[in-house]
Amino acid sequence: MQIKAPRGTCDILPSDAAKWNAVETIMREKAALFGFHEVRTPIFEHTELFQRGVGETTDIVSKEMYTFDDRGGRSITLRPEGTASCVRSFVEHSLFSGALPVKWFYMGPMFRYDRPQAGRFRQFHQFGVEAFGSNSPYLDAEVITLMVEIVQALGIETYELHLNSVGCPTCRQHYREKLIEFLKPMEKQLCKDCQERLYKNPLRVLDCKVPTCQEAIQGFPVMADYLCDACRIHYTAVQEALAINQIRYIQDHQLVRGLDYYTNTAFEILLPDLGAQSAVGGGGRYNGLIQEIGGPNMPGIGFALGIERLLLAREASGTAMETEKSLDVFVALQRADYRSIALEIVNELRKKQFSADKDYQDRSMKAQMKYAGKIGARVVLIIGDEEVVSGQFTLRNMGTGEQVRVGKNEMVQTLNEMLHAR
Ligand code: HAM
Repeated sequence: MQIKAPRGTCDILPSDAAKWNAVETIMREKAALFGFHEVRTPIFEHTELFQRGVGETTDIVSKEMYTFDDRGGRSITLRPEGTASCVRSFVEHSLFSGALPVKWFYMGPMFRYDRPQAGRFRQFHQFGVEAFGSNSPYLDAEVITLMVEIVQALGIETYELHLNSVGCPTCRQHYREKLIEFLKPMEKQLCKDCQERLYKNPLRVLDCKVPTCQEAIQGFPVMADYLCDACRIHYTAVQEALAINQIRYIQDHQLVRGLDYYTNTAFEILLPDLGAQSAVGGGGRYNGLIQEIGGPNMPGIGFALGIERLLLAREASGTAMETEKSLDVFVALQRADYRSIALEIVNELRKKQFSADKDYQDRSMKAQMKYAGKIGARVVLIIGDEEVVSGQFTLRNMGTGEQVRVGKNEMVQTLNEMLHAR
């Protein structure tokens, strides 16, 4: 039986890799411009990290983690997100005692066992940033600005930035009680999940997509009215800083985010054209997480963008134009006996920074030309009987059909002219 890739995973074939590379390059460059440095953490961690970090009541921890016991009997989890791992690393290496804030970015696969659908995978990729050690609202605005600038640089024009504050544990507790009080009479109208959430994590009821739940919450009390003084001042300052950065946003009282660690600023970028999975990125502050993971009481903030969803959006808007880089020179030989000459030439071309390849199948000249055309080689260098005798090789421009004969000494210059003529 044929073995297929596991459900919810994808191969990124060479025909798509150029689009991935283009997106990743833009992300790296933007992150560097904003002073973020790359970090790479393991793809698996001790399960406890996500239980403590992301939170037991979240969908991620309660039903979506890839968790297994390793051969030593330790419970291991494939990372469902990057924030908890970054915080673990920051604390483990005691970086909290160095220069602050520490600004990191990361990129790579994440794993969530969810029902796959368009834009939702079991292995997906995120680009994320985390900044540790500053509670400045200007840092909130900077992180949000970076996220928006990346989306814009990717050529995505139709997006919405949603913003909210989920307060600190103290004011949120007060709000939570008010919300439960408000929702209680409507309990029967809520979906099964929300009936459960009502007492465990009532804020999540606000972002439930089920229409009856949306109806039931009409007129709900909003967090903004319950923020304590410090949280209100912080939230106002974030909005002022966003105005300075000329970042437009929608104040969204229903935005609560699906991970437990958030405090204060929470934000998301939605692409209305993307259908059901319209969130391409989200983030927020997590001022209690570093301490929760065993570090000092120190604030943090970050976001993550879903690379697959960004690629889908680029594809839909016609921005994703990048294609595989074609081969500069394909070396075709008339006889298998010319193999060693061909090898020498290929080696030399590669040393001179031309991408080069040759035939390995002892195919006819016609078949070699056909292959060169199929793989999109830009120039074919022909080694025939005449060429071997005269030492002058034929270079065929596959775009124009034009042919020239050159000696080895003029090869580099002629190739450069041919390849850069377009
Ligand atoms: P998140 O909202 O869970 O946040 O994920 C961020 C983005 O990852 C989503 O907006 C989406 O684009 C993408 N994503 C999530 N799940 C899937 C999936 N199953 N398939 C495809 N794409 C997906 C976080 O992960 C937080 N760690 C963000 C953060 C960083 N907050 C603070 N710092």
